[in-house]
Amino acid sequence: SQQRTLVIAKPDAVRRGLVGEIIGRIERKAGWTLTALELRTLDRATLEQHYAEHVGRDFYAPLLEFMSSGPSVVMVVEGERVIEGVRVLAGATDPLKAGPGSIRGDFGTIVRENLVHASDSEESAEREIKIFFPER
Ligand code: CMP
Repeated sequence: SQQRTLVIAKPDAVRRGLVGEIIGRIERKAGWTLTALELRTLDRATLEQHYAEHVGRDFYAPLLEFMSSGPSVVMVVEGERVIEGVRVLAGATDPLKAGPGSIRGDFGTIVRENLVHASDSEESAEREIKIFFPER
């Protein structure tokens, strides 16, 4: 079924020049379309909303520090089974546990700096798209 999801190429991906690689993998999937895309340095207020579920975790403060450390590329991708699909492309949260062939598995080592965010459910996708692209 047709879905939409929020994808972020995180600051480490921008710094390392991996944005093209990440977008290229998404673009090549059959029937998926980029419907919003912006290079943006995320501010703390936006990140606090986005990562509300992680408040109180030991990784929360360093996560916000990292995510605001430079520009990210924020995008909306639409298409067939795109929510689970982008998470499969991304691989497991810990890059060392992500399979080869996934973005994190191929390029990541650090858990925090895991290159990409992808919404984990339809509810998360709608919530997150509203935070980053309120006009949609
Ligand atoms: P993501 O799953 O996109 O969203 C939560 C982020 O928090 C995760 O990617 C990592 O960037 C970070 N994160 C999650 N767990 C840890 C951890 N144990 N240590 C450091 N960072 C983490």
